[in-house]
Amino acid sequence: MREYERAAKDLLNWYDAAKRRLPWRSEPTPYRVWISEIMLQQTRVDAVLPYFERFMERFPDCAALAEAPEEELNRVWQGLGYYSRARNLKRAAQIVLERFSGRLPDDADELMKLPGIGEYTAGAIASIAYQRPCPAVDGNVSRVIMRLAGLTGNAADARAGVKRIAMDMLPKERAGDFNQALMELGALVCLPNGAPRCESCPWERFCEAHLLGREQDFPEPRKREPRKVEERTVIVVCDGARVLIKKRERSGLLAGLWEYVNVSGWFDADEAGELLEEMGLTVSRIAALKPSKHIFTHREWHMRGFSAYVPPAPPPGDYLWADAATFDKAAFPSAFRAYRSDALECLEQGMKVRSTQ
Ligand code: ADE
Repeated sequence: MREYERAAKDLLNWYDAAKRRLPWRSEPTPYRVWISEIMLQQTRVDAVLPYFERFMERFPDCAALAEAPEEELNRVWQGLGYYSRARNLKRAAQIVLERFSGRLPDDADELMKLPGIGEYTAGAIASIAYQRPCPAVDGNVSRVIMRLAGLTGNAADARAGVKRIAMDMLPKERAGDFNQALMELGALVCLPNGAPRCESCPWERFCEAHLLGREQDFPEPRKREPRKVEERTVIVVCDGARVLIKKRERSGLLAGLWEYVNVSGWFDADEAGELLEEMGLTVSRIAALKPSKHIFTHREWHMRGFSAYVPPAPPPGDYLWADAATFDKAAFPSAFRAYRSDALECLEQGMKVRSTQ
């Protein structure tokens, strides 16, 4: 038996015994595999699980997803972040419905033509849902193979070599399981930070990095551009019962999501009050809230927060006054999560006032 064949067999035996029971594994329909892979692109398995179940209940197939109202889709996605993934899912579902009668294609090249599906995701869907012999190389898989084969450089440098090895090893009769076994080994054993659990690894005897005693040197870290730090001020404006919110533009960062009053730069309480006055509001009280940080892929928001009370007045510009029911339906980006409890406090006051009237 060739060495790769032996290694693939050992990995599959390990996977059969050690794999986690996950909902897209127990029922790997193309649609479920697709949705799980998109959710897993930027989010850990544990965090994805409740979202996956809720998504499947609300949008059980391509037809339901193709018709998803944007607000509802955003709400089901709220907390997962990277909302362009949800928008691409809907656009892709519409295409699949029109061109493929609602069934995802089984060919990786065809899959890659759909919005939001790149090489990795196409390989994952084709192999896991359709048993097509395609590699699926994500960050975990790349690390596992680079260590196994002792490939030097960073993950991007080694990509072509990693893909070749992943393809050479792929057992044609269990392609989907093999790809998931590589992912599982990367997630449970061949860990990126801290010590890998080599004593539990089916490849302990073959692994080049382990034989060298230098697992952690593979892959070499990628040189990243430092993230741009942006100072922002967030103001939760309350009229005693409702919160002032606005829908963001349809394109750009956090497109189509809802936001509180927020501006670039760090304002103090006086400046924040002046800003609201310029918007035509009369400020009766303003108080500092806790500062907060949010890290995006290429930028960081360092936020100062204020709560401001204003007497009831017409909403300025594109803003609207959200009562509890409206607020509950509006999807906010995770970046503003720190200020949600302050907004809810304001809305609760409104509920109390109403219940005593
Ligand atoms: N990460 C990406 N795809 C995965 C899968 N199918 N199982 C576990 N982790 C994953």
